[in-house]
Amino acid sequence: MSVLTTSSPKILSKMEMKPYFNKDNFVLYHGDAILLLSQIPENSIDMIFADPPYNLSNGGFSVHAGRMVSVDKGDWDKSRGFEADYDFHYNWLDACKKVLKPGGTLWVSGTYHSIYQCGHAIQSLGYHILNDVSWFKPNASPNLSCRFFTASHETLIWARKEKKAKHTFNYDLMKEGHWPEDQLKKPGLQMRSVWSMGTPRPEEKKYGKHPTQKPLDLLRRVVLSSTNKGDVVLDPFTGSSTTGLAAIMHGRKFIGVDLESKYLDLSVKRFNDLKL
Ligand SMILES: C[S@@+](CC[C@H](N)C(=O)[O-])C[C@H]1O[C@@H](n2cnc3c(N)ncnc32)[C@H](O)[C@@H]1O
Repeated sequence: MSVLTTSSPKILSKMEMKPYFNKDNFVLYHGDAILLLSQIPENSIDMIFADPPYNLSNGGFSVHAGRMVSVDKGDWDKSRGFEADYDFHYNWLDACKKVLKPGGTLWVSGTYHSIYQCGHAIQSLGYHILNDVSWFKPNASPNLSCRFFTASHETLIWARKEKKAKHTFNYDLMKEGHWPEDQLKKPGLQMRSVWSMGTPRPEEKKYGKHPTQKPLDLLRRVVLSSTNKGDVVLDPFTGSSTTGLAAIMHGRKFIGVDLESKYLDLSVKRFNDLKL
Protein backbone atom coordinates (compact mmCIF):
# COMPACT_ATOMS: atom_id res chain seq x y z
CA MET A 1 0.00 0.00 0.00
CA SER A 2 1.35 3.42 -0.96
CA VAL A 3 1.91 6.30 1.42
CA LEU A 4 0.77 9.82 0.64
CA THR A 5 3.16 11.75 -1.55
CA THR A 6 3.63 15.48 -1.68
CA SER A 7 1.96 15.52 -5.10
CA SER A 8 -1.30 14.03 -3.76
CA PRO A 9 -4.37 16.25 -3.67
CA LYS A 10 -4.36 17.90 -0.17
CA ILE A 11 -7.82 16.42 0.40
CA LEU A 12 -6.29 12.99 1.02
CA SER A 13 -4.56 13.99 4.24
CA LYS A 14 -8.02 14.30 5.86
CA MET A 15 -9.14 10.80 4.95
CA GLU A 16 -9.14 7.59 7.00
CA MET A 17 -9.27 5.19 4.07
CA LYS A 18 -5.76 4.39 2.79
CA PRO A 19 -5.11 4.54 -0.95
CA TYR A 20 -4.71 1.32 -2.93
CA PHE A 21 -2.40 3.20 -5.29
CA ASN A 22 -1.05 6.73 -5.14
CA LYS A 23 1.41 8.23 -7.58
CA ASP A 24 1.78 11.56 -9.35
CA ASN A 25 -1.73 12.83 -8.59
CA PHE A 26 -3.38 9.54 -9.62
CA VAL A 27 -4.96 8.05 -6.49
CA LEU A 28 -7.10 4.91 -6.27
CA TYR A 29 -9.16 3.53 -3.39
CA HIS A 30 -10.51 0.00 -3.02
CA GLY A 31 -13.99 0.02 -1.54
CA ASP A 32 -17.48 1.39 -1.66
CA ALA A 33 -18.09 4.73 -3.35
CA ILE A 34 -20.43 6.09 -0.67
CA LEU A 35 -17.98 5.20 2.10
CA LEU A 36 -15.14 6.93 0.25
CA LEU A 37 -17.24 10.01 -0.47
CA SER A 38 -18.23 10.27 3.21
CA GLN A 39 -14.54 10.80 4.09
CA ILE A 40 -13.81 13.53 1.55
CA PRO A 41 -14.09 17.12 2.84
CA GLU A 42 -17.21 18.98 1.69
CA ASN A 43 -16.86 21.52 -1.15
CA SER A 44 -13.48 20.22 -2.26
CA ILE A 45 -13.91 18.52 -5.66
CA ASP A 46 -14.00 20.36 -8.99
CA MET A 47 -15.62 17.72 -11.18
CA ILE A 48 -17.10 14.23 -10.80
CA PHE A 49 -17.58 11.82 -13.66
CA ALA A 50 -19.67 8.79 -12.71
CA ASP A 51 -20.45 5.73 -14.79
CA PRO A 52 -22.55 3.85 -12.22
CA PRO A 53 -23.86 0.27 -12.50
CA TYR A 54 -26.44 0.02 -15.29
CA ASN A 55 -28.50 -2.62 -13.42
CA LEU A 56 -28.88 -4.63 -16.61
CA SER A 57 -27.00 -7.87 -15.84
CA ASN A 58 -30.02 -10.10 -15.46
CA GLY A 59 -29.41 -12.93 -17.91
CA GLY A 60 -29.87 -11.23 -21.32
CA PHE A 61 -27.78 -11.62 -24.48
CA SER A 62 -26.11 -9.31 -26.97
CA VAL A 63 -23.74 -9.60 -29.93
CA HIS A 64 -20.02 -8.92 -29.79
CA ALA A 65 -17.64 -9.41 -32.74
CA GLY A 66 -20.34 -11.43 -34.52
CA ARG A 67 -20.89 -13.79 -31.55
CA MET A 68 -23.78 -14.09 -29.12
CA VAL A 69 -22.54 -13.08 -25.65
CA SER A 70 -24.13 -12.72 -22.22
CA VAL A 71 -24.78 -9.13 -21.12
CA ASP A 72 -23.91 -10.07 -17.52
CA LYS A 73 -21.07 -7.81 -16.37
CA GLY A 74 -20.81 -8.96 -12.76
CA ASP A 75 -22.70 -8.98 -9.47
CA TRP A 76 -22.17 -5.22 -9.16
CA ASP A 77 -24.40 -4.69 -12.21
CA LYS A 78 -27.43 -6.77 -11.11
CA SER A 79 -30.70 -5.00 -10.42
CA ARG A 80 -31.90 -5.20 -6.79
CA GLY A 81 -35.38 -4.10 -7.86
CA PHE A 82 -36.63 -0.65 -8.88
CA GLU A 83 -36.79 0.90 -5.41
CA ALA A 84 -33.45 -0.41 -4.17
CA ASP A 85 -31.74 0.65 -7.41
CA TYR A 86 -33.26 4.14 -7.07
CA ASP A 87 -32.17 4.42 -3.42
CA PHE A 88 -28.63 3.45 -4.39
CA HIS A 89 -28.49 6.13 -7.10
CA TYR A 90 -30.02 8.75 -4.81
CA ASN A 91 -27.53 8.02 -2.04
CA TRP A 92 -24.36 8.15 -4.10
CA LEU A 93 -25.56 11.29 -5.92
CA ASP A 94 -26.29 12.91 -2.55
CA ALA A 95 -22.79 12.03 -1.35
CA CYS A 96 -21.31 13.51 -4.56
CA LYS A 97 -23.20 16.78 -4.07
CA LYS A 98 -21.67 17.29 -0.62
CA VAL A 99 -18.08 16.98 -1.84
CA LEU A 100 -18.43 19.11 -4.99
CA LYS A 101 -17.45 22.78 -4.85
CA PRO A 102 -20.48 25.10 -5.34
CA GLY A 103 -19.57 25.63 -9.02
CA GLY A 104 -18.36 22.04 -9.38
CA THR A 105 -20.03 19.85 -11.95
CA LEU A 106 -21.18 16.26 -12.15
CA TRP A 107 -21.34 14.06 -15.21
CA VAL A 108 -23.37 10.84 -15.08
CA SER A 109 -23.45 8.40 -17.98
CA GLY A 110 -25.85 5.57 -18.60
CA THR A 111 -28.42 3.87 -20.76
CA TYR A 112 -32.19 3.83 -20.24
CA HIS A 113 -31.71 1.08 -17.63
CA SER A 114 -30.32 3.62 -15.18
CA ILE A 115 -30.15 7.13 -16.58
CA TYR A 116 -33.76 8.14 -15.89
CA GLN A 117 -33.48 7.06 -12.27
CA CYS A 118 -30.26 9.05 -11.99
CA GLY A 119 -31.88 12.06 -13.68
CA HIS A 120 -34.81 11.95 -11.25
CA ALA A 121 -32.46 11.77 -8.28
CA ILE A 122 -30.28 14.59 -9.67
CA GLN A 123 -33.32 16.86 -9.91
CA SER A 124 -34.69 15.80 -6.50
CA LEU A 125 -31.36 16.65 -4.92
CA GLY A 126 -31.42 20.19 -6.35
CA TYR A 127 -28.56 19.96 -8.82
CA HIS A 128 -28.89 22.35 -11.76
CA ILE A 129 -28.88 20.43 -15.06
CA LEU A 130 -26.68 22.06 -17.74
CA ASN A 131 -26.97 19.60 -20.63
CA ASP A 132 -27.79 16.06 -21.57
CA VAL A 133 -25.30 14.80 -24.12
CA SER A 134 -25.89 11.88 -26.46
CA TRP A 135 -22.83 9.77 -27.10
CA PHE A 136 -23.61 8.23 -30.51
CA LYS A 137 -21.68 5.01 -31.25
CA PRO A 138 -21.27 4.60 -35.01
CA ASN A 139 -19.92 1.05 -34.44
CA ALA A 140 -22.65 -0.17 -32.03
CA SER A 141 -23.36 -3.94 -31.91
CA PRO A 142 -26.41 -5.10 -33.90
CA ASN A 143 -29.70 -5.97 -32.21
CA LEU A 144 -30.15 -9.75 -31.93
CA SER A 145 -33.92 -10.00 -31.71
CA CYS A 146 -34.64 -7.76 -34.69
CA ARG A 147 -37.70 -6.56 -32.78
CA PHE A 148 -36.23 -3.27 -31.54
CA PHE A 149 -34.07 -0.43 -32.81
CA THR A 150 -30.35 -1.06 -32.37
CA ALA A 151 -29.19 0.64 -29.18
CA SER A 152 -26.46 2.96 -30.41
CA HIS A 153 -26.12 5.74 -27.88
CA GLU A 154 -25.60 6.48 -24.21
CA THR A 155 -26.76 9.58 -22.37
CA LEU A 156 -24.57 11.80 -20.24
CA ILE A 157 -26.22 14.24 -17.85
CA TRP A 158 -24.08 17.27 -16.97
CA ALA A 159 -25.18 19.20 -13.88
CA ARG A 160 -23.83 21.86 -11.51
CA LYS A 161 -24.02 21.55 -7.75
CA GLU A 162 -25.51 24.99 -7.03
CA LYS A 163 -28.10 26.73 -9.18
CA LYS A 164 -26.46 30.16 -8.86
CA ALA A 165 -22.73 29.34 -8.87
CA LYS A 166 -20.43 29.68 -11.89
CA HIS A 167 -19.09 26.53 -13.53
CA THR A 168 -16.16 25.87 -15.86
CA PHE A 169 -16.93 25.45 -19.55
CA ASN A 170 -14.04 25.75 -21.98
CA TYR A 171 -16.19 27.07 -24.79
CA ASP A 172 -13.42 28.17 -27.19
CA LEU A 173 -11.60 24.86 -26.96
CA MET A 174 -14.81 22.97 -27.65
CA LYS A 175 -15.62 25.17 -30.64
CA GLU A 176 -12.18 25.65 -32.19
CA GLY A 177 -10.38 22.48 -31.02
CA HIS A 178 -9.32 19.58 -33.20
CA TRP A 179 -11.80 16.68 -32.83
CA PRO A 180 -10.89 14.23 -35.60
CA GLU A 181 -12.64 11.29 -33.87
CA ASP A 182 -16.06 12.93 -34.26
CA GLN A 183 -17.60 13.00 -37.73
CA LEU A 184 -20.45 15.24 -36.53
CA LYS A 185 -18.22 18.07 -35.25
CA LYS A 186 -17.72 20.76 -37.89
CA PRO A 187 -14.49 22.82 -37.53
CA GLY A 188 -15.08 26.29 -36.09
CA LEU A 189 -18.73 25.68 -35.18
CA GLN A 190 -20.07 25.36 -31.64
CA MET A 191 -19.78 21.94 -30.01
CA ARG A 192 -23.22 20.37 -30.02
CA SER A 193 -24.74 17.92 -27.58
CA VAL A 194 -24.49 14.86 -29.86
CA TRP A 195 -20.98 13.42 -29.85
CA SER A 196 -20.05 10.72 -32.33
CA MET A 197 -17.27 8.44 -31.08
CA GLY A 198 -16.50 4.75 -31.44
CA THR A 199 -16.29 2.31 -28.54
CA PRO A 200 -12.76 1.81 -27.07
CA ARG A 201 -10.04 0.96 -29.58
CA PRO A 202 -8.17 -2.39 -29.23
CA GLU A 203 -5.05 -0.62 -27.88
CA GLU A 204 -7.17 0.80 -25.03
CA LYS A 205 -7.79 -2.81 -23.93
CA LYS A 206 -4.27 -4.14 -24.28
CA TYR A 207 -3.90 -4.76 -20.53
CA GLY A 208 -7.26 -6.55 -20.25
CA LYS A 209 -10.91 -5.78 -20.55
CA HIS A 210 -13.32 -3.99 -18.34
CA PRO A 211 -16.85 -5.04 -19.41
CA THR A 212 -18.13 -1.47 -19.65
CA GLN A 213 -14.96 0.46 -20.43
CA LYS A 214 -15.53 3.94 -21.84
CA PRO A 215 -13.47 5.28 -24.77
CA LEU A 216 -10.66 7.65 -23.90
CA ASP A 217 -11.94 10.12 -26.52
CA LEU A 218 -15.19 10.51 -24.57
CA LEU A 219 -13.47 11.15 -21.24
CA ARG A 220 -10.90 13.51 -22.77
CA ARG A 221 -13.76 15.66 -24.02
CA VAL A 222 -15.54 15.56 -20.66
CA VAL A 223 -12.36 16.55 -18.79
CA LEU A 224 -11.26 19.21 -21.29
CA SER A 225 -14.68 20.84 -21.47
CA SER A 226 -15.44 21.15 -17.77
CA THR A 227 -12.15 21.43 -15.86
CA ASN A 228 -8.91 23.42 -15.82
CA LYS A 229 -5.32 22.32 -15.22
CA GLY A 230 -4.73 21.48 -11.55
CA ASP A 231 -8.42 20.72 -10.85
CA VAL A 232 -9.39 17.62 -8.85
CA VAL A 233 -11.49 15.10 -10.77
CA LEU A 234 -13.21 12.22 -8.95
CA ASP A 235 -14.75 9.03 -10.34
CA PRO A 236 -16.77 7.00 -7.77
CA PHE A 237 -17.09 3.97 -10.11
CA THR A 238 -13.68 4.13 -11.70
CA GLY A 239 -13.46 0.65 -13.32
CA SER A 240 -10.41 0.71 -15.59
CA SER A 241 -10.00 4.46 -14.79
CA THR A 242 -10.56 5.92 -18.23
CA THR A 243 -11.52 9.14 -16.41
CA GLY A 244 -8.24 9.08 -14.49
CA LEU A 245 -6.13 8.62 -17.61
CA ALA A 246 -7.87 11.54 -19.32
CA ALA A 247 -7.40 13.68 -16.20
CA ILE A 248 -3.69 12.92 -15.88
CA MET A 249 -3.03 13.31 -19.62
CA HIS A 250 -4.32 16.87 -19.33
CA GLY A 251 -2.69 17.99 -16.07
CA ARG A 252 -5.61 17.42 -13.66
CA LYS A 253 -5.53 15.46 -10.36
CA PHE A 254 -7.50 12.26 -10.00
CA ILE A 255 -9.22 10.25 -7.26
CA GLY A 256 -10.95 6.98 -8.23
CA VAL A 257 -12.66 4.21 -6.26
CA ASP A 258 -13.94 0.76 -7.19
CA LEU A 259 -15.27 -2.28 -5.34
CA GLU A 260 -13.18 -4.68 -7.44
CA SER A 261 -9.40 -4.82 -6.99
CA LYS A 262 -8.99 -6.49 -10.41
CA TYR A 263 -10.23 -3.28 -12.05
CA LEU A 264 -7.90 -1.16 -9.92
CA ASP A 265 -4.99 -3.38 -11.01
CA LEU A 266 -6.02 -2.81 -14.62
CA SER A 267 -6.18 0.94 -13.88
CA VAL A 268 -2.63 0.90 -12.53
CA LYS A 269 -1.32 -0.87 -15.65
CA ARG A 270 -3.04 1.70 -17.86
CA PHE A 271 -1.67 4.56 -15.74
CA ASN A 272 1.89 3.16 -15.81
CA ASP A 273 1.63 2.85 -19.58
CA LEU A 274 0.97 6.61 -19.80
CA LYS A 275 4.27 7.21 -18.04
CA LEU A 276 6.35 4.99 -20.38
C1 LIG B 1 -19.92 0.95 -15.46
S1 LIG B 1 -18.44 0.48 -14.67
C2 LIG B 1 -17.33 1.85 -14.91
C3 LIG B 1 -16.39 1.67 -16.08
C4 LIG B 1 -15.42 2.84 -16.27
N1 LIG B 1 -16.10 4.05 -16.66
C5 LIG B 1 -14.32 2.51 -17.27
O1 LIG B 1 -14.13 3.27 -18.26
O2 LIG B 1 -13.64 1.49 -17.09
C6 LIG B 1 -18.91 0.60 -12.99
C7 LIG B 1 -17.85 0.19 -12.00
O3 LIG B 1 -18.37 0.47 -10.69
C8 LIG B 1 -17.90 -0.49 -9.78
N2 LIG B 1 -18.83 -0.45 -8.65
C9 LIG B 1 -20.09 -0.96 -8.57
N3 LIG B 1 -20.66 -0.65 -7.40
C10 LIG B 1 -19.76 0.10 -6.70
C11 LIG B 1 -19.74 0.74 -5.44
N4 LIG B 1 -20.81 0.67 -4.61
N5 LIG B 1 -18.66 1.45 -5.07
C12 LIG B 1 -17.56 1.52 -5.89
N6 LIG B 1 -17.50 0.91 -7.10
C13 LIG B 1 -18.58 0.22 -7.50
C14 LIG B 1 -17.85 -1.79 -10.58
O4 LIG B 1 -16.91 -2.70 -10.04
C15 LIG B 1 -17.47 -1.28 -11.99
O5 LIG B 1 -16.08 -1.41 -12.21
